[in-house]
This record gives sequence, C-alpha cells and structure tokens, in this order.
Amino acid sequence: MKLSILSVFALALSASAGPAGSGFELVGYGKDNPIGPTTGGAGKDGKTVTVSTVDEFLKAINGSSPTTIYAKGKFNFTARPRVGSNKSLIGVGKGAEITGAGLTIANSTNVIVRNFVIRAIVDNDAITISNSSRVWIDHNEFTSGNFPAAGPDAFDGQVDIIRASDWITVSWNYFHDHWKSSLIGNNDKFRDIDLGHLHVTYHHNYWRNEGTRGPAGRFGHQHIYNNLYEDFLYQAIHSRSDNQVLVEGNIFSGKTREALSTYGLVIPEDSPNTGPNGDYELDGFANLGASKLAFFFCQFLTVCLENDFGKATVNITQVGNFTQAPYKYKLTTLKKLEKVVKKGAGLGKI
Ligand SMILES: *[C@@H]1O[C@H](CO)[C@@H](O)[C@H](O)[C@H]1NC(C)=O
Ligand SMILES: *[C@@H]1O[C@H](CO)[C@@H](O)[C@H](O)[C@H]1NC(C)=O
Ligand SMILES: *[C@@H]1O[C@H](CO)[C@@H](O)[C@H](O)[C@H]1NC(C)=O
Ligand SMILES: *[C@@H]1O[C@H](CO)[C@@H](O)[C@H](O)[C@H]1NC(C)=O
Ligand SMILES: *[C@@H]1O[C@H](CO)[C@@H](O)[C@H](O)[C@H]1NC(C)=O
Ligand SMILES: *[C@@H]1O[C@H](CO)[C@@H](O)[C@H](O)[C@H]1NC(C)=O
Ligand SMILES: *[C@@H]1O[C@H](CO)[C@@H](O)[C@H](O)[C@H]1NC(C)=O
Repeated sequence: MKLSILSVFALALSASAGPAGSGFELVGYGKDNPIGPTTGGAGKDGKTVTVSTVDEFLKAINGSSPTTIYAKGKFNFTARPRVGSNKSLIGVGKGAEITGAGLTIANSTNVIVRNFVIRAIVDNDAITISNSSRVWIDHNEFTSGNFPAAGPDAFDGQVDIIRASDWITVSWNYFHDHWKSSLIGNNDKFRDIDLGHLHVTYHHNYWRNEGTRGPAGRFGHQHIYNNLYEDFLYQAIHSRSDNQVLVEGNIFSGKTREALSTYGLVIPEDSPNTGPNGDYELDGFANLGASKLAFFFCQFLTVCLENDFGKATVNITQVGNFTQAPYKYKLTTLKKLEKVVKKGAGLGKI
C-alpha cells in the first residue's frame, strides 16, 4: 500500500500505537509511515516469553513469529544475535544488560528494543539496523567508558542504521561516554540503495560526553527534535551526501565544537586514524523547522522551533525542503527540556 503525504497526516491523527497512558508512546516515523506502525510482538497471534539465559534469548528472537520477549538479567554474547521480525525485546525492571556482542537487526521488520543497557561492544556496533523497516529503539542506555582515551575505533557505533533501512524511531535513550554515536548510511558508495530511505525520528535522547555522529546521516531524512546534548565534543548533527535533517527544539550545553553541519567535510576528530585532514563528500541539507504552517501554530505555543546551540557552531550550507514532519508530535518547551529528558531517558522508566 502506498500512501500520500496527506493520508500519512490523516493516519497520524487517527492511529495510536504503543502502551497507552505511559507518556512514552511511540511517536514519529516508527509509528506513522506508509507501511504501518511498529508493534513488535503485539497482536492477536503474539506470544510472550521471559528469557534469562543466552540460549533462551537466541531461541526467542529467531524467526518471525510475533513474540514479546522479557529479558531478565545479564546476557554476555559471543556472537551478534540477529533479531527476527515481529519482536518486542523488553529488559525487565531496571533494565537487562548486553555485553560481548551487540544486536543485529537485519533483513527484518517490526522490531522493538526497550530497557537494555548495551556496554562496550569492542570493534562493532551496539545495535546495527540493516535492510530493516519499522524499528523502535527506546529507553535504552549505551555506553563504553574510557572516553575519549580509548580512541575513535576501539568501539564502533551505538545505533547505526544502514542499507535502506526505514521508518525508525530512536527515543528516550541515554548515550554516554562513547566516541561514535549514530551513523545513518555508512558509505557514500551505497547511494543507489540508500537514497529515499533512512527516515528516522530522534527525540528526547540524552547524549552526554560523546564524540561524533549525533546523528550523522547520508541519503535519508531525519527528524531530530527535543534531544539534550551535554559535552558532545566534536561534531553532533551532520547531514551530508544529500541527506536532509529537520532540527527542532534541541539543547546543546557544555563543550561542543559543532552542533549542526551540512558541509560535506567530516572534521578530522571524527576519525583521526583514517582521515587526518577530514574526509569530503557532497553536502547535505538542514532545516530548522521554519515552515509557514509551523510558524502559524507556533505562535500559540510558548516555545516551538528554536534550538539552543549554546557555544557550538552551526554550518548550514544548503537549506532543504524537509520543512515539516509528516506526523503529529508534541514539542517539549526548551525551558522544560533538560529536566524532562534527564528524568525520562534511559533505564527503568517504562
Ligand atoms: C533458528 O531457526 C532455524 C530454523 O527455523 C534453525 O535452523 C536455527 O538453528 C535457529 N537458531 C537458533 C539460535 O535457535
Ligand atoms: C563475557 O564473556 C567473555 C568470555 O567469553 C569474558 O571474557 C568477559 O569478561 C565476559 N564479560 C562480562 C561482562 O561478563
Ligand atoms: C512477521 O514478519 C514477517 C516478515 O518477516 C511478515 O511477513 C509477517 O506478516 C509478520 N507476521 C505476523 C503474524 O505479523
Ligand atoms: C540479509 O539478506 C542478505 C541477502 O539475502 C544476506 O546476504 C545477508 O546475510 C542477510 N543478513 C543477515 C544478518 O542474515
Ligand atoms: C533485504 O531483506 C529482504 C527480506 O526482508 C531480503 O529479501 C533481501 O534480500 C534483503 N536485501 C539485502 C540487500 O540484504
Ligand atoms: C562551513 O562550510 C563552508 C563550505 O560551504 C566551509 O568553507 C567552511 O569552512 C565551513 N565552516 C566551518 C567552521 O567549518
Ligand atoms: C527536495 O530536495 C531534494 C534535494 O534538492 C530534491 O531531490 C527533491 O526532489 C526535493 N523534493 C521536493 C518534494 O521538492
């Protein structure tokens, strides 16, 4: 089924997914998109299991039958678990822990990951989302420690989204003490595969003491609103290779060199080992949400579209046409944002 932008709007007004009443319902591209909301293991055929060992975990995520998997305790994997379609993976209580190897969501659809801490995945990503659609990464914690002393390549991304993955929401996560956070589209050679996909919503995430890629996108569209960045040291939001970002109501505080850039240069601090002078690609696009329609509604709200970039620089070389997100969402005011994000993001909140 193909929907026009207008019918996506209608859908946004009528559909409701996620646990009602928690205040942490699914919002954004993971919910409102042309192929349907992310529901994970829910639905009339959905079953529920609780797992507490690596073997039980691996068995439960296999295949595509709808399953809600409650994970209890610590899971130290020796190889990357591949999460099948129609799965809700939920850490129990104050959160379940993943170490050893991170999650791969590849060739899958309809996957939810909530309430996990994923620690120090050596030489690889905490979560890789590849060739997959409808994914919701919510209320997790991602950290490696020893930042920046460990250097840029000891670990890889925290949530990397590649190979034409689409219709994803990354919300209320706590990302900290790690170099490379979230890369969307991992190579400019994949233009033909990626272009027109990679629609991701990032909202109410708390980034603290991180290096780069908060997020860095190629070829897609990312709506980045109401995130809190503290000491995000090098380059935070980076849009290049014709990528488009819509950036609204975010706060940057502490030390951040560049809050937002569409210049195709990745600054050298991103990968000092591979590109001592930085590496170049085509520029991307950025909008700060100043569409006429948005302005019209914003005059009735206390604060709406502004970002607080703090002392960080902003380099928008091309203003794009991604002026408005095609779904309903509610902005937290800048005045309340720090408190709301620190209180709501991370483990043990759902
Ligand atoms: C997953 O399922 C396939 C077949 O359905 C089976 O061959 C494989 O061993 C299973 N893997 C795990 C980890 O259970
Ligand atoms: C995970 O298991 C490996 C051995 O496979 C071990 O070296 C490592 O210390 C374990 N990590 C944790 C956090 O238990
Ligand atoms: C689960 O996912 C598959 C894709 O692998 C999809 O085709 C199927 O319809 C889904 N099953 C249910 C019962 O929702
Ligand atoms: C995804 O599908 C492709 C093509 O069938 C295959 O090469 C690849 O191994 C699959 N990825 C995983 C993690 O199974
Ligand atoms: C993408 O995933 C689908 C299954 O959803 C598979 O049929 C296809 O081969 C995969 N493509 C690639 C390039 O891995
Ligand atoms: C901003 O982008 C322009 C290219 O359009 C570049 O010449 C300039 O050096 C950039 N500024 C910074 C501070 O990186
Ligand atoms: C938005 O801008 C991009 C990049 O210039 C262009 O490819 C695309 O066609 C434009 N979309 C619309 C709807 O104008």
